Amino acid sequence: MSAEIIDGKAAAATLRARVGELAAGFAADTGRKPGLAVVLVGEDAASAVYVRSKGKATVAAGMASFEHRLPADTAQEDLLALVDRLNADDAVDGILVQLPLPEGLDADAVLQRIDPDKDVDGFHPVNAGRLATGLNGFVPCTPLGCLMLLKERLGDLSGLNAVVIGRSNIVGKPMAALLTQASCTVTVAHSRTRNLAHHLAGADIVVAAVGRANFVSGDWIKPGACVIDVGINRTDDGLVGDVDFASAASVAGAITPVPGGVGPMTIACLLRNTLVAAHRRAG
Ligand code: GUN
Repeated sequence: MSAEIIDGKAAAATLRARVGELAAGFAADTGRKPGLAVVLVGEDAASAVYVRSKGKATVAAGMASFEHRLPADTAQEDLLALVDRLNADDAVDGILVQLPLPEGLDADAVLQRIDPDKDVDGFHPVNAGRLATGLNGFVPCTPLGCLMLLKERLGDLSGLNAVVIGRSNIVGKPMAALLTQASCTVTVAHSRTRNLAHHLAGADIVVAAVGRANFVSGDWIKPGACVIDVGINRTDDGLVGDVDFASAASVAGAITPVPGGVGPMTIACLLRNTLVAAHRRAG
């Protein structure tokens, strides 16, 4: 093994501590804590775990956490009415509706109902458009966390070749936009890409977010590359990423582990976005 293991837990702890200090300053200045509302619809076990850890992290950072749990058979108009109430609530700076929503609910319509200035997930089309055009908005937490890890390891990214594997609205597309803005030369690959190995051969940066266990072989990775693995896949061997860790770690210059890499940064970035939302709303 030659690669440096990028410690996402440590980076996330540092960011959370900094956000906590700034949140305390915000509370001292304004007389109220930054507030994050999280909405969970239905009983999905993994989503319930995520929501609980988001709530705990919010409180630990000195922010107010508002949790709303609704039954799986909630009507679309009732969910939209809750979003309307949260949009109008001055104690709420950030709103997150946990995905996926139960069948029968229209997630796009719900996400589009969130006030873009409270959209700390960065999923509203207005924020996607702001990111694409280089305007200030909210950037989705996972790609933002990946960018922070890359900058911490590599410093200035300009001129580097980056391959993003995956084209989702939540990770792949915003990741490509962030790397483009950081002056990388960006290739977006995905499950249908032909000859991925050819694209990876020149990649200084690899961000894997395709959702397939061990999809990327270490043989394809350029020696010394920085590899960020967003995948969290449950297999008989436990949780594994989208990158075959053992083979990649012998070639890469640095690599994130799964778990303990990108995951902790996602929550830290959610807190960071909530703090930013509070400041923007306070004017
Ligand atoms: N489900 C899995 N990841 C996320 C996320 O980052 N935000 C939301 N809202 N739902 C998710």
